[in-house]
Amino acid sequence: MARAAGGRDVIVASKLSRTFRRADKQTVTALDDVTFGIDPGQFVCLVGPSGCGKSTLLKLIAGLMLPSAGTLEVEGESVTQPGPERGMVFQQDSVFPWLRVIDNVEYGLKCRGVGRAERRRSAEFYLERVGLSHVARAWPRELSGGMLKRVAVATVFANGANVLLLDEPFGAVDYVTKRNLHDVLLALWTEAGSDERRTVVFVTHDVDEALILADRILVMHSGRIVDDLAVTAPRPRTTDGLMEPTMVRHKHVLLAHLGLEDAKGAAEAPAGARADP
Ligand SMILES: Nc1ncnc2c1ncn2[C@@H]1O[C@H](COP(=O)(O)OP(=O)(O)OP(=O)(O)O)[C@@H](O)[C@H]1O
Ligand SMILES: [Mg+2]
Repeated sequence: MARAAGGRDVIVASKLSRTFRRADKQTVTALDDVTFGIDPGQFVCLVGPSGCGKSTLLKLIAGLMLPSAGTLEVEGESVTQPGPERGMVFQQDSVFPWLRVIDNVEYGLKCRGVGRAERRRSAEFYLERVGLSHVARAWPRELSGGMLKRVAVATVFANGANVLLLDEPFGAVDYVTKRNLHDVLLALWTEAGSDERRTVVFVTHDVDEALILADRILVMHSGRIVDDLAVTAPRPRTTDGLMEPTMVRHKHVLLAHLGLEDAKGAAEAPAGARADP
């Protein structure tokens, strides 16, 4: 199960809960007594059915809302508000329509007072890395949906955050574009080298996407973390690699958690497949 708070974790949640009071006076428990730790540089996917609390957890880590109970620390500091060490890509569009592409990518650096030449250099670097140098001066409305997602990825990397919080960033794009975006994201994430790698928390409903991207998959259900899978398959994860027995068992476990298969496959998961038993 999810590991309790440890000394070297970059994100530490302990007994974290968040309730909402809806306009109809109903109380909703979006997060319920959640405890976990995430290692620096880990790529964690958060999977679970709609409404289980994934976005709520990401918004708490981002500091966009406060917990109702429990504690949450990022890089050893209690989270009370957004900070430059955390960058978020939202479930909906993350690009400002009133700024040109390059100004979007620079925006966070500008807010932090980074000088014009330096932020331009950084924005140009990341736009080149996501293959969008040729539209740096374009307006967002002139780009396709997949290109806008590339802008969002370039922006979150350019901002220099150590912790990247991505809420279904590729949920609405087609299969081919999504696979290309995975390559772009993983290339940016791995090129820093294992010591400097950003920590990523990536929400998805897509089991295959989680298996391609993650070092570790946290499964949520009804506001709780109900499973914690270590994905140790080598990268890059090829089609054949995704058909290795351990990956196939992981897929059965995830599909069972999502109610798409019965739990038989889950029961047969091999010893050692889970992240910290
Ligand atoms: N601001 C809010 N006010 C009231 N209820 C909320 C609010 N935000 C979230 N909730 C409720 O909390 C629960 C968890 O919502 P959350 O957005 O975290 O789910 P999710 O796992 O991200 O779902 P999805 O996969 O559909 O995006 C839901 O029942 C939702 O209705
Ligand atoms: Mg959500």
